[in-house]
Amino acid sequence: MYTSCKNNFEKLSPLRNSDLDTCSRLRMLAAIRSKSIKLLLSQRLLNSCFSRTATGLHGFTLSAMTTRAIPATMQAIQVSEVGGAEKLLLARDVPVALPTPRTVLVRNHFAGVNFIDTYHRSGLYPVSLSPFTPGVEGAGIVVAVGPDVAGWKPGDRVAYITRPPTGSYAQYTVVPDGKLARIPPEMDFEAAAASMIQGMTAMSLVTLAYPVQKGDAVLVTAAAGGTGRLVAQLAAAAGAHVIGAASTREKAEVAREAGCSDVILYGEQDLASEVMRITEGRGVAAVYDGVGRATFDAGLACLQKLGFMISFGNASGKVPDFDILRLSRNNVRLMRTALWDFISTPEEFESLSSRTLAAVTGGTLKLLITGRYSLADALVAHQDLEGRRTTGKLMLQVPV
Ligand SMILES: NC(=O)c1ccc[n+]([C@@H]2O[C@H](COP(=O)([O-])OP(=O)(O)OC[C@H]3O[C@@H](n4cnc5c(N)ncnc54)[C@H](OP(=O)(O)O)[C@@H]3O)[C@@H](O)[C@H]2O)c1
Repeated sequence: MYTSCKNNFEKLSPLRNSDLDTCSRLRMLAAIRSKSIKLLLSQRLLNSCFSRTATGLHGFTLSAMTTRAIPATMQAIQVSEVGGAEKLLLARDVPVALPTPRTVLVRNHFAGVNFIDTYHRSGLYPVSLSPFTPGVEGAGIVVAVGPDVAGWKPGDRVAYITRPPTGSYAQYTVVPDGKLARIPPEMDFEAAAASMIQGMTAMSLVTLAYPVQKGDAVLVTAAAGGTGRLVAQLAAAAGAHVIGAASTREKAEVAREAGCSDVILYGEQDLASEVMRITEGRGVAAVYDGVGRATFDAGLACLQKLGFMISFGNASGKVPDFDILRLSRNNVRLMRTALWDFISTPEEFESLSSRTLAAVTGGTLKLLITGRYSLADALVAHQDLEGRRTTGKLMLQVPV
């Protein structure tokens, strides 16, 4: 079929979907990728050969091949063994995966950098496959959709959440169809990618984990960081008195601009006693803590009666096992959240992502992108993040 395809467009065009077995489709895709037949094939023919109505694993819909072919290989960061940032290596010959029935293939423009990427890389959160590509969020254009995908088509501008081994530190990423958000027309790819993990996490913390009430006092640790800054903004917008914690005066200023009325320099000041001083002994209704080991005890100690300790991260290390009886002082409540489990269904994802993107376009959430790195410099981004040198959001610009 490849030969007839290459030499004679007319011979191929009468083919019906049923004429193409999986093997033929794969051979044909290889031919398309080789670019030798790219200009000979019309979108109509491609759709007839790869339409969503076709049966079989490889009956996917391709993007307009008249503008760009999907290459066989791509640039991607790969982690072959867990460890430090130096384990993030750029490979230039990673096969581009094809979409399975309920996934789409996205050509990335930007990938966001998140602290969780360092956990995958270090092995704190194990990844099932090696080598794997890290990265849990990105934005770009849909270039192919699996046969059972409804509602998405090639050419759609999307932001998404994924997880390794098929991460976003790559030119192309295969994404489940229930983890895609349509990018609002007024939003660019970078802002859309930057909104996903940290924005949706902040939204889940402040509206689902402990819904902030007007007049609450709450504590946000790492309040100048990517997620903490957004938590502070949403809590302040909900009418809370937000107390932030940050490690430097420069970061304290960023936290104030995000809506923190008070900022504690927790490297110099005692976190719990400062919170009790600021709240005149009452304590806070909720602690939103992504720092983990270093701040967990202080967080518990400054909760008001029936207060909520919302632990959502381990930037300083995992919280050690502890005695449950400690929760009986003030009858406090403890939750350890994972964004993934707030968005496990397509409906949950749609609800949280649309509320988050609306908060960004509406101005309630103000993104602050402070670092842009090339894909090859992903390791530098990790070093900066783990070295506590950053505020706001870090992005990887993907070669398109
Ligand atoms: N559960 C979830 O679903 C979920 C989703 C998103 C994020 N998270 C968690 O949220 C936290 C923040 O993530 P992010 O991506 O937004 O990162 P980030 O806040 O931009 O960066 C981490 C910040 O943590 C603080 N920190 C305190 N001790 C640290 C240490 N020993 N090493 C490094 N940083 C330390 C630093 O701020 P200071 O210098 O001001 O202390 C640092 O800037 C992480 O723990 C992450 O895992 C969880």
